[in-house]
Amino acid sequence: MARQVSVVGVGYLGLVHAVCLAHHGHPVVALDTDEQRIAGLRDGVLPFFEPGLEEIFEQAQARGLLHFTTDPADLADAEVHFLCVGTPQSADGRHTDTSYVEAAASRLAPYLSRDALVVGKSTVPVGTANALAARLRNLTGREVRLAWSPEFVRQGRCVHDTLEPDRIVYGVGGSRANDDIAVLDEIFAPQYAAGADRVVVDYATAELVKAAANAYLATKISFINAVAELCEASGADALALADAIGLDRRIGRDFLSPGLGFGGGCLPKDLNGLGARAEEYDAARPAALLREVDAINDKARTNVVELALDLCDGDLYGKRVAILGAAFKPHTDDVRDSPALDVASICRALGAQVVVHDPIALDNARRAHPELSYRDNVLDACNKADVVLHLTEWPQYAELDPAQLATVVGRACIVDGRHGLDPDRWSDAGWRYRAFGRPLAA
Ligand code: UGA
Repeated sequence: MARQVSVVGVGYLGLVHAVCLAHHGHPVVALDTDEQRIAGLRDGVLPFFEPGLEEIFEQAQARGLLHFTTDPADLADAEVHFLCVGTPQSADGRHTDTSYVEAAASRLAPYLSRDALVVGKSTVPVGTANALAARLRNLTGREVRLAWSPEFVRQGRCVHDTLEPDRIVYGVGGSRANDDIAVLDEIFAPQYAAGADRVVVDYATAELVKAAANAYLATKISFINAVAELCEASGADALALADAIGLDRRIGRDFLSPGLGFGGGCLPKDLNGLGARAEEYDAARPAALLREVDAINDKARTNVVELALDLCDGDLYGKRVAILGAAFKPHTDDVRDSPALDVASICRALGAQVVVHDPIALDNARRAHPELSYRDNVLDACNKADVVLHLTEWPQYAELDPAQLATVVGRACIVDGRHGLDPDRWSDAGWRYRAFGRPLAA
């Protein structure tokens, strides 16, 4: 049965969620305070690139199921409201800022019908849902139905992960929890039909499931990067090691790729947020573990710079450094906390002339780092380079012709920060190839 729903916040999470709800036949009103973004969406302009989104967005628009607004009064008829606003890192760089969630609840409260269900999807510190339930009670003078259902979507795979998730988690509480579960079951019926598992827990567990899932993924990446330090020191091969231990089904190969480490708008923020929360609860051991995961991740960036220094006789001053990749990972134009751009900035601070290429993230990169130079063609970016750094593993970089690239660079030296290139192909074409945690080519 189609339900009238609203989505508050049309960032990555909210917009994809809104479009997927409409794709499943629900009439959706999506609210955001960003007037420009809402005006663009009304004109059919998506504010970011996400594979597969445009097609189902256009279909939902054509069926008249998607409405965009900046006026919370337009949400009054909705039976279910999904809170999808951002929860950025606070100014101290550690805590999670939940002020947008609180503001969204305050804007929504006057328009909530008596029976409406509010469903939080934003990533929030443990304790937020309980505080929000109290806030909604104060604002409306009655108990408001509230559930927390965190998202596990990956950028670049948002549509797939929303339509075919591994699991859907409901954090429930309050006197109508069973009714809330029934509504969510109905809304997510297509996802269950596609094979998703359902997990029903309390608010605090749901909040922590999300934070712990991201922290675990970060820990897995930092684990392999810590082992890569041992490989680098001992002459072992971190990539072969990752392949070998990943064959154990209890370990698994996913998120075990050594290299430049994690970035983006989620893993670093959620790791720090969980660490800060652990400190607030005086849980010293999880706090220390999460801090170390973060420190190993920072070190992965310096390791790549050190390899570049090695290939440039210990000095990057005045050297031309070509950077392949600006996005924090392939298949997205997002450059938030991009390890590639961080390395680019470190090289620039060491006096290098840095030129960056990316297939789709250059506009965002320019806005975030106007001090760097950009080229939209790999050959131009690598022109006269003293060293090339491969920092985001776009598939097209693995297909580059090393012999052709060797004709434009100043010196044929490459650091493979993502272990995504074939060392033999590059060495055979005359390149000095280095990747952290892998033995030098013979
Ligand atoms: C992450 C989680 O994977 C999602 O499940 C979660 O829903 C999302 O955060 C969120 O909280 O919204 P995302 O930030 O899109 O998704 O990116 P990931 O695919 O997790 O990659 C994160 C970073 O880890 C990237 O910089 C990637 O290059 C790096 N990475 C990934 C590695 O360095 N090694 C690996 O083996 C895998």
